[in-house]
Amino acid sequence: MSAQLIDGKAIGAAVRAEIKERAAAFIARTGMHPCLAAVLVGEDPASHVYVRNKGKACVEAGMLSRQINLPATTTEKELLDLVGRLNADDAVHGILVQLPLPDPIDETKVIEAIAPAKDVDGFHPVNAGRLLTGGRGFIPCTPYGILKLLEYEKVDLKGKHAVVVGRSNIVGKPVAILLLSRHATVTICHSRTQDLPGVVRTGDVVIAAVGKAEMVRGSWIKPGAVVIDVGINRLPDGRLVGDVAFEEARAVAGKITPVPGGVGPMTITMLLHNTLEAAALRAAAAE
Ligand code: GUN
Repeated sequence: MSAQLIDGKAIGAAVRAEIKERAAAFIARTGMHPCLAAVLVGEDPASHVYVRNKGKACVEAGMLSRQINLPATTTEKELLDLVGRLNADDAVHGILVQLPLPDPIDETKVIEAIAPAKDVDGFHPVNAGRLLTGGRGFIPCTPYGILKLLEYEKVDLKGKHAVVVGRSNIVGKPVAILLLSRHATVTICHSRTQDLPGVVRTGDVVIAAVGKAEMVRGSWIKPGAVVIDVGINRLPDGRLVGDVAFEEARAVAGKITPVPGGVGPMTITMLLHNTLEAAALRAAAAE
């Protein structure tokens, strides 16, 4: 049996169409144009592609996008000053500083400088804390996108065992909290987990977010499991692969996301969602 593919491109497009409609209604009602400011420091080619795609998606959804490119020689103070100016700019509703930042800039300091109400990445400790405690805040885009995929696919998480491989602040930890909020029983695994294949094999849902090409093998997957692959890794031969050995896992899983075309399109989609939400919060505060 071959697993059903979870089509992130199609689901992302459907969610973006809804966001575009809501953005148009918001603009008509308030006269405000939701605006995302994306800051890119340095020359990392992958980051350039990501930021360009984020800006393009914003415009396609009827929102405004500002991209600020800074040289790799930018000092931490210069970047913090820029974030301060964007925080104070009423025409900017969402701020995103693309990670990773070049050395020696302290990422934590920069993230903490972003006003929580404009932190559409959901990385600020205030938003991370709200996620942890079940309050209203911005949810990081990739975990939020994974949840949307699972919702669209009608995956019932209640009482199921979800195994998250990876413990990053951007994906592993927040997705675990989200799955828990949907009543899954959650295990977070990492590089030092004993018998990692054995633990993954107990997962009804497996989220692979380790950043290691094809690390999760088909033999690690419980038959019928839902497999979400967050990885995007470039092999020496140029192929783009996930953190899961796709063909092996596809033969065992019930549903699986492809790479590319799975989680990736959902990350940008939820960034649009958060940007519109940030503008709506600002409008409500001004009313
Ligand atoms: N680098 C990799 N993923 C992300 C993301 O979602 N947001 C930002 N700002 N940087 C990233």
